[in-house]
Amino acid sequence: MTRRKVYEGKAKILFEGPEAGTLIQYFKDDATAFNNQKKGVISGKGVLNNRISEYIMTKLEEIGIDTHFIKALNMREQLIKAAEIIPIEIVVRNVTAGSLARRFGVEEGLPLPRPLIEFYLKSDELNDPLVSEEHIFFFQWAEVPEIEEIKIQAYRINDFLSGLFLGAGLKLVDFKIEFGRVYDEEGNSYLIVADEISPDSCRLWDIKTGEKLDKDRFRHDMGGVEEAYQEVARRLGVLMDAGPIASITAKKKTKDNPLGKKVKKTAKAKPDNDNPKKKK
Ligand SMILES: Nc1ncnc2c1ncn2[C@@H]1O[C@H](COP(=O)(O)OP(=O)(O)OP(=O)(O)O)[C@@H](O)[C@H]1O
Ligand SMILES: [Mg+2]
Repeated sequence: MTRRKVYEGKAKILFEGPEAGTLIQYFKDDATAFNNQKKGVISGKGVLNNRISEYIMTKLEEIGIDTHFIKALNMREQLIKAAEIIPIEIVVRNVTAGSLARRFGVEEGLPLPRPLIEFYLKSDELNDPLVSEEHIFFFQWAEVPEIEEIKIQAYRINDFLSGLFLGAGLKLVDFKIEFGRVYDEEGNSYLIVADEISPDSCRLWDIKTGEKLDKDRFRHDMGGVEEAYQEVARRLGVLMDAGPIASITAKKKTKDNPLGKKVKKTAKAKPDNDNPKKKK
């Protein structure tokens, strides 16, 4: 079956969906950082981000936040609602890190007195510049009530996800979300959370050790990138029934698998307590 590709980005591909108003979001293993200056592949990332994003979007739906997620299709694809993307990346920060620390010359890891929201224009050519609310209104990237709604939702998502990750032994340092506009039968627009929420778009630090378990491992050549994404998925409990994911975890040479043989695609993932990688 040939399907029409609607858009190919750095980390995902969008295909036309089976019905009007839907799209298929395909998660690639490709990774980029620092506005495309650094490129690479994180083996198995697409599979893990597909699962993690599905899990988080479903949890958000459970607390009444509308998202684009409709249903999982396969290991790398999910069916989503097509939205008009607001061309602004919304970043919520709880602790200083990344560009905030660089831009203002502050140390990484300082807890902020309250969550900080930042807006960045989605523009690769301009290097995703930081913009103010005024810029957003002036250039009509979003309406005033939309920005108000986005801020309310962003704080709520931050509170909820901070708790969710805390339960998995992870500190939510910061994250990026995108919102899209969709229309109801009467033609009124409303906002939904779109794109993805995954270790590509969140900074997640181990609560006890401070170890980074997110894309910063790739950005700064820290090694253990695949393992970090797997660890987040495992802690969220989304690897449990994911049989084929065993083929990723077994690709590396280990004591139990010295040849680094792939596990047969149909193999069921081992129960957690059998997992040799599990941290004691
Ligand atoms: N529900 C949706 N409807 C329409 N577009 C979407 C939806 N969810 C995400 N997108 C868009 O699909 C693209 C996903 O691809 P990817 O994240 O790889 O892009 P990218 O290379 O990061 O580029 P961008 O700077 O646009 O994010 C993004 O442009 C994102 O804004
Ligand atoms: Mg993107």
